Amino acid sequence: MSAFACERPNMTEQHRNRATEAFFGRRKGKPLRTQQAAHLETLLPAFRVDLTSPAPDDITSLFAHDVERMRMEIGFGGGEHLIHRAVENPSTGFIGVEPFVNSMAKLVGQIEAKGAVNIRLHDDDATQVLDWLPDACLDQIDLLYPDPWPKRRHWKRRFVSPVNLDRFARVLKSGGVFCFASDIDTYVNWTLSHCRDHAAFEWTAENAADWLTPYAGWPSTRYEAKARREGRKSAYLTFRRI
Ligand SMILES: C[S@@+](CC[C@H](N)C(=O)[O-])C[C@H]1O[C@@H](n2cnc3c(N)ncnc32)[C@H](O)[C@@H]1O
Repeated sequence: MSAFACERPNMTEQHRNRATEAFFGRRKGKPLRTQQAAHLETLLPAFRVDLTSPAPDDITSLFAHDVERMRMEIGFGGGEHLIHRAVENPSTGFIGVEPFVNSMAKLVGQIEAKGAVNIRLHDDDATQVLDWLPDACLDQIDLLYPDPWPKRRHWKRRFVSPVNLDRFARVLKSGGVFCFASDIDTYVNWTLSHCRDHAAFEWTAENAADWLTPYAGWPSTRYEAKARREGRKSAYLTFRRI
């Protein structure tokens, strides 16, 4: 379906979650290695956010130690950004969401290897977590190289939409930020125009360098590496919750 298709399993077999209107590709790719399967079975349950119980009023109580900030990454893919940020920011609590089983297995192994105790996970649609969270509980939402849905007739499937910006607006604290990176021009413009039209968000950029320069401490991601190999540049947008 996209420039990313060779990295993802067959994206023509989209799964549509009717409850949330989310679209994503198949949830499984190559068979998991034995150790990955074991990680999912033995480790994931301890990291998984329990959406069957009401969310705690204080979301930082998801973690055994004190955390000062809360950050959510939607669609972490290979997980390299999430694990990097979690290790460099031990006093931030992270919620990572990724429906693709192989990616989840990889990240769970990394969490174990690096001893990151500040990550909680959800292995399905991010809108389920957004709807579970209490109001004004997150300092940051990262949406990095979301599925681009480049064909015009599929743009409505993009994660950035009025209804999902409403979700972001509800769960972000005042002054919290929504960070969006993409190498797909039409998606960058789409996000700029949707955030401009949403009363809760303001774009923080003051000049071109602000959105052409990667975020501070940016470790890059697998999809960004692919974009570079194929000659595409990226935009790094930051919107502040008013
Ligand atoms: C193009 S990949 C980018 C992965 C990673 N952020 C990177 O930069 O390498 C988009 C990811 O978003 C995930 N995704 C798509 N829809 C999602 C949804 N509704 N909730 C959570 N993740 C989603 C996909 O499974 C996929 O791994």
